[in-house]
Amino acid sequence: MSSRQRKLNSTSALGAHIAGLAFQNPIVLAAGTAGYGRELAGVMDIDAVGGIVTKAVSPLPRAGAPAPRVAEFANGMINAVGLANPGLQEVRTEHLPWLASNLRHAIPIVNVVGYTVADYVEVVSTLSDAPGAGAFELNVSCPNVEQGGLEFGSDLEVLGELVRRARAATRKPLFVKLSPVTPDIVLSAKTVVDAGADCLTLVNTVPGLVIDVKERRSVLGFGAGGISGNAILPIGVLATWKVRNAVSVPLLGVGGVSSATDALQYMVAGASLVGIGTGALRDPGLPLRIVADLERWCKVNCTGALSEIVGSLKMPR
Ligand SMILES: Cc1cc2nc3c(=O)[nH]c(=O)nc-3n(C[C@H](O)[C@H](O)[C@H](O)COP(=O)(O)O)c2cc1C
Repeated sequence: MSSRQRKLNSTSALGAHIAGLAFQNPIVLAAGTAGYGRELAGVMDIDAVGGIVTKAVSPLPRAGAPAPRVAEFANGMINAVGLANPGLQEVRTEHLPWLASNLRHAIPIVNVVGYTVADYVEVVSTLSDAPGAGAFELNVSCPNVEQGGLEFGSDLEVLGELVRRARAATRKPLFVKLSPVTPDIVLSAKTVVDAGADCLTLVNTVPGLVIDVKERRSVLGFGAGGISGNAILPIGVLATWKVRNAVSVPLLGVGGVSSATDALQYMVAGASLVGIGTGALRDPGLPLRIVADLERWCKVNCTGALSEIVGSLKMPR
């Protein structure tokens, strides 16, 4: 038996079957924090996680926001990367082929961004048959230029149209990633599921501002940014629980995970998969330590597979 096979067998109690994909364990590297996989290959065994969500992909290259783009504060991180990416063609010819030839077990999920509905459709349809695209994750927290800069996620009609058209452009599983500050996350969730989403990712970063008081300036070159890390864990867990009660598709919970206990909170709230972003930026060993800790936890606390705890939260009425 190969060491890879042993690894798979030893983690089979952690396996999750989502939207026709077999994840060897529920831990997924969150969008924008693992590059296109290659960036992390020297510091961790990227094929040992359940999945890897790529950095955003837009039709054309995007330079992104001015530096500094990322800053830490107590219990969290703030970023304004501006969805910098090399664009669809480079991702198709360089990054996805690398993922396809280096991942045998972890599932690559392509994160998609755009300024118009047509941008999302172009990325999804062009990459639909690419071997390194196991699924797509639509980041709908982008400014929609056709609607005067309002985020796609905050207009239910446009949101529904976006997901319907992306759905029609591919047979690969479609994840839709929602913002925790959308006017009504349950309504957004229902809208995207009705439009054909196979899985929902909850949550994206929370808007925030961190000020350098001495300089009286934002710590970021762009100004305001998105908060991630420990500070947003309870926000993501609540969003997961609310949405779990409203839709029946599987959920990917993400936001603030830095331990197996944090990951278990998302699972008990209703997530089948758990994303790790900031925690892995700080410590690339974290995702696989969490996989090992979940396996140990499951041996003691589960009667069968870890998935039995998904959605098992007892809430007071
Ligand atoms: C530096 C950085 C870049 C990110 N880029 C993306 C992105 O390209 N697309 C996306 O949907 N989310 C992006 N995110 C959001 C993360 O995927 C995740 O939803 C968020 O950080 C919360 O998880 P965490 O607390 O584990 O980091 C980014 C987050 C960070 C910190």
